Amino acid sequence: MASRCVFSLFFTYIALFTSPCFAEDPIVNFEFVVSYITASPLGVPQQVIAVNGHFPGPTINVTTNDHVVVNVRNKLDEDLLMTWAGIQQRKSSWQDGVLGTNCPIPSKWNWTYQFQVKDQIGSFFYFPSLHLQRASGGFGGFIINNRDIIPIPFATPDGDIVILIGDWYTRNHTALRRALNAGKDLGMPDGVLINGKGPYRYNTTLVPDGIEYETIDVHPGKTYRIRVHNVGMSTSLNFRIQNHNLLLAEAEGSYTVQQNYTSLDIHVGQSSSFLVTMDQNASTDYYIVASARFVNESLWKRVTGVAILRYSNSKGKASGPLPDAPNDQFDKTFSMNQARSIRWNVSASGARPNPQGSFRYGSINVTEIYVLKNKPPVTINGKQRRTLNGISFLNPTTPIRLADQFKLKGVYKIDFPDKPITGEPKMETSIINGTYKGFMEIILQNNDTKVHTYHVNGYAFFVVGMDYGEWTENSRGTYNKWDGIARATTQVFPGGWTAILISLDNVGVWNLRTENLDSWYLGQETYIRVVNPEVTNKTEFPMPDNALFCGALGKMQKPQDISSATSIMVNGSKLFLSLVMMVCAVISIFI
Ligand SMILES: *[C@@H]1O[C@H](CO)[C@@H](O)[C@H](O)[C@H]1NC(C)=O
Ligand SMILES: *[C@@H]1O[C@H](CO)[C@@H](O)[C@H](O)[C@H]1NC(C)=O
Ligand SMILES: *[C@@H]1O[C@H](CO)[C@@H](O)[C@H](O)[C@H]1NC(C)=O
Ligand SMILES: *[C@@H]1O[C@H](CO)[C@@H](O)[C@H](O)[C@H]1NC(C)=O
Ligand SMILES: *[C@@H]1O[C@H](CO)[C@@H](O)[C@H](O)[C@H]1NC(C)=O
Ligand SMILES: *[C@@H]1O[C@H](CO)[C@@H](O)[C@H](O)[C@H]1NC(C)=O
Ligand SMILES: *[C@@H]1O[C@H](CO)[C@@H](O)[C@H](O)[C@H]1NC(C)=O
Ligand SMILES: *[C@@H]1O[C@H](CO)[C@@H](O)[C@H](O)[C@H]1NC(C)=O
Ligand SMILES: *[C@@H]1O[C@H](CO)[C@@H](O)[C@H](O)[C@H]1NC(C)=O
Ligand SMILES: *[C@@H]1O[C@H](CO)[C@@H](O)[C@H](O)[C@H]1NC(C)=O
Ligand SMILES: *[C@@H]1O[C@H](CO)[C@@H](O)[C@H](O)[C@H]1NC(C)=O
Ligand SMILES: *[C@@H]1O[C@H](CO)[C@@H](O)[C@H](O)[C@H]1NC(C)=O
Repeated sequence: MASRCVFSLFFTYIALFTSPCFAEDPIVNFEFVVSYITASPLGVPQQVIAVNGHFPGPTINVTTNDHVVVNVRNKLDEDLLMTWAGIQQRKSSWQDGVLGTNCPIPSKWNWTYQFQVKDQIGSFFYFPSLHLQRASGGFGGFIINNRDIIPIPFATPDGDIVILIGDWYTRNHTALRRALNAGKDLGMPDGVLINGKGPYRYNTTLVPDGIEYETIDVHPGKTYRIRVHNVGMSTSLNFRIQNHNLLLAEAEGSYTVQQNYTSLDIHVGQSSSFLVTMDQNASTDYYIVASARFVNESLWKRVTGVAILRYSNSKGKASGPLPDAPNDQFDKTFSMNQARSIRWNVSASGARPNPQGSFRYGSINVTEIYVLKNKPPVTINGKQRRTLNGISFLNPTTPIRLADQFKLKGVYKIDFPDKPITGEPKMETSIINGTYKGFMEIILQNNDTKVHTYHVNGYAFFVVGMDYGEWTENSRGTYNKWDGIARATTQVFPGGWTAILISLDNVGVWNLRTENLDSWYLGQETYIRVVNPEVTNKTEFPMPDNALFCGALGKMQKPQDISSATSIMVNGSKLFLSLVMMVCAVISIFI
């Protein structure tokens, strides 16, 4: 009786937070102040986007089942949304941080994300999803650890290291946006950053003096888990560490069959973790390199990220040439074969990429098929745009999920073509009708001249095949029906295709996009809307109490008191949450 009373009291408190809390699952709080700071990663001062004054932002490091609460305070001079790449937001596209699901957080406002990380363990990252802002920063790592009771398929590493790599321009995102709006190509980036820093001066001609570089400190004999994320604009990068093997262990939440690589291509938006043993004799420091792929290397020499791996017993500086990139100018299958070699360890225990993920996906019948083809840039109404199947996505002023909630008509069309349209390309708010509990096959056909990566929010999908040429029905014969990796971001080589399978068990409205930031900005995206026809609140969380309103629903939005003393509020809410956690702990003892 007494405990029931505590329970109802507890739920009244929790109702304020909307997401249901299970007594044993901790709440973890973050305050994210997003602002501009001046930094000179390539020696040229520029305004970059920082989180809590740091560029890159802090790593979110939580454990599966945790309730994550992130209060994002927008101190930029424009709208902001933070999105959580690879975090599945099960039952809650409300927290996804893209324009199809959320109204943007206006300048000077704050908005509190609240979600539970569930059925996922691995390496992910966050970034600002609007207005090309990722080109100026705002990103950081997002780790979901296993709970102690869930074993991992390798010995506990001696350390955990996050490495963010990405191409970089000395122009800020507003300048880059202006160029794209004017129909210009962004051209070659000015460099590649590693953890927000420019290259080590490995060559005095190529790297100017006075650039701050990243140093990773390690101890001899130890094995580290190194989580590498490509957070850049549009350049595929080859990652390698001089004289060290990279034992690939995980990709975006799936444990892989463990294999050594001397280098691995990490495409835009992708995350991988490696186990790296410090087994060298530390005669010098070692280079950590992230270099541009599939480009004219003599022209792109400057576009190389170089950091330093320093043993605690190191006998001197790294020197000499960088370790070689794959020499495959005449072998376009090298990188594809490497991608095909990344397979899922189907016997590894632990959280699956989907709760249903332990099934044999190869024996499930596909219920709907989409062939999505991109094109090089097209001109629509005098504007340069990017398309999928001839549709260049136009973001609605009222988010799709919100429009559904209030039964607004005419916000979007649910008529996304399942193959390329034959007529003129057009700009539309056209989305994919996904059948709840259906099994969707998507063939991504890349008709552009560079690698594209595609990302689906809300899901991990099975990568079952990729090849050069046009996909045909016969291509299914080459699919990997057994241990294709389940991940959220896959590369599609130019002139080639990649086939993915998605089990549509997560109700909501989910973004499908190219991660190549310029193409995304110019409309290469859509959404998959998954509705449970049975009216129930079991398969999707209710709209959060703090939902913002905009567009056709803008009248419902109360103004935010932006002058309120934030620090007191912050401390107050922290205290309150600690209290909730204590109640949680007490309850879990009693039940
Ligand atoms: C971006 O750079 C331009 C100069 O190209 C500058 O005028 C502008 O203030 C910068 N904007 C931001 C948000 O840093
Ligand atoms: C803004 O932050 C305060 C805490 O500082 C919080 O109480 C409030 O709910 C947040 N606003 C939104 C819309 O999430
Ligand atoms: C796969 O996972 C199992 C179970 O954890 C582990 O014992 C095995 O070494 C892993 N296999 C490979 C090839 O990584
Ligand atoms: C994340 O947290 C785990 C568990 O507390 C810790 O072992 C690990 O070192 C942390 N990783 C990073 C990158 O901080
Ligand atoms: C530095 O790079 C330049 C240009 O690629 C090259 O000509 C030169 O040999 C390099 N210097 C060293 C010491 O490797
Ligand atoms: C990977 O390379 C390391 C040496 O760096 C070696 O000890 C290990 O056995 C290799 N593992 C596999 C699976 O090949
Ligand atoms: C170990 O260091 C010495 C110099 O101290 C060097 O000559 C030798 O090649 C190194 N061996 C390995 C395996 O790296
Ligand atoms: C790469 O660029 C250099 C310098 O512009 C040029 O001479 C060379 O022909 C280019 N190589 C290829 C393969 O296009
Ligand atoms: C898949 O479809 C085939 C016929 O098209 C049917 O025989 C089979 O039972 C189906 N499998 C499942 C798992 O539904
Ligand atoms: C979407 O698909 C479902 C079946 O999966 C169908 O019942 C519904 O009518 C479709 N909606 C639209 C607007 O086409
Ligand atoms: C693009 O599509 C056209 C027409 O199907 C084809 O002729 C061309 O080879 C394709 N190019 C690439 C790079 O896929
Ligand atoms: C969920 O639905 C049940 C009945 O269908 C209802 O009693 C309950 O209040 C609902 N919960 C929320 C949070 O809407």
